[in-house]
Amino acid sequence: MRINAVDDIGAARAALGRAYDLAPSLAAARETRALYDRVSRVIPEPDWAIHAPYVRAINALKKDRDAVILAHNYMTPEIFHGVADISGDSLALAIEATKVRQQVIVQCGVHFMAETSKILNPAKTVLIPDSRAGCSLAESITAADIADMRAQYPGAKVVSYVNTTAEVKAASDICCTSANAAQVVAAMPGDTVIMTPDGYLARNVAAQIPAKRVVWWEGACMVHERFTADELRAYREADPDTAIIAHPECTPEVVAEADFTGSTAGMIGWVRKNKPRKVVMVTECSMSDNVANELPETDFVRPCNICPHMKRISLENILWSLHSMTEEVTVPEHLIAPAAQAVQAMIDLTAPRN
Ligand code: 13P
Ligand code: SF4
Repeated sequence: MRINAVDDIGAARAALGRAYDLAPSLAAARETRALYDRVSRVIPEPDWAIHAPYVRAINALKKDRDAVILAHNYMTPEIFHGVADISGDSLALAIEATKVRQQVIVQCGVHFMAETSKILNPAKTVLIPDSRAGCSLAESITAADIADMRAQYPGAKVVSYVNTTAEVKAASDICCTSANAAQVVAAMPGDTVIMTPDGYLARNVAAQIPAKRVVWWEGACMVHERFTADELRAYREADPDTAIIAHPECTPEVVAEADFTGSTAGMIGWVRKNKPRKVVMVTECSMSDNVANELPETDFVRPCNICPHMKRISLENILWSLHSMTEEVTVPEHLIAPAAQAVQAMIDLTAPRN
């Protein structure tokens, strides 16, 4: 039974209601006060009384299930600060997935992230609270498309963004994330490198590595492609002291307007280090929310866009996922080794050694 399926939602909610005390509760809010202190700038206290019973139930259940929750930086604050054990950008989550000791991984993010965890942990159970959490980039390309590009550019290495299906990863030479794309492309042998599936990331990387001829697939992130350079210029004109930092899935014109461009973790690191008085984080909306409390002096301007896929994950479906041990993510056996090779090659090339 899926809590996300319209037919099942009533029955699933009733089952949760019988198993846990999920009514809004000031007592639960008091018990979880330390967690609330991390989100009080963005979640009103009455709303926390609604979240707190779920936070309490999830944190207790994950111990019973020997589970760890990996959460992407785009998760909402009640997930990011309330129940995540490990949070980060796609690169950090992939690296952390290689170190997990627990038997169950609950991936709070989108489907390709859960697949990456499964590829790196084929013997573990990987759950995603809503398997419909997709990604416009991952959906834009197939393994057959990779074969066509290889035929078009014989001998060129294929660097695929981790925002791809297991099938596409398995057909690629190496993966990259927004944190290491330029480093990976620069390390490829040969003059020409094929980058898939994000055309804007590829253009932004190509500008950084003039020594390589970068060719690309024309996929795009539906969240980042909507930002325009004009709108960012308007923010700067309104207050010239506004810092603008952007994700490299944005167009090159938007990136050119930014004071800094980096992965979601890179953007958070930049704000922590520079503590701007006012900042526009040109990315998904939860990013500002998740750092608002630790940076009380910073005013977060929010011309952000929501990722509808990331927003499918909620406290309710995380609890259901752990309670019912659904929805399990599987990767066809024959794809595991070649896809793991592409992800591991990226980790070996770029992960900090300790
Ligand atoms: P990061 O790897 O920078 O976290 O980005 C993932 C993503 O989906 C951004 O849209
Ligand atoms: Fe995919 Fe864009 Fe959503 Fe990231 S923000 S998961 S790239 S659609």
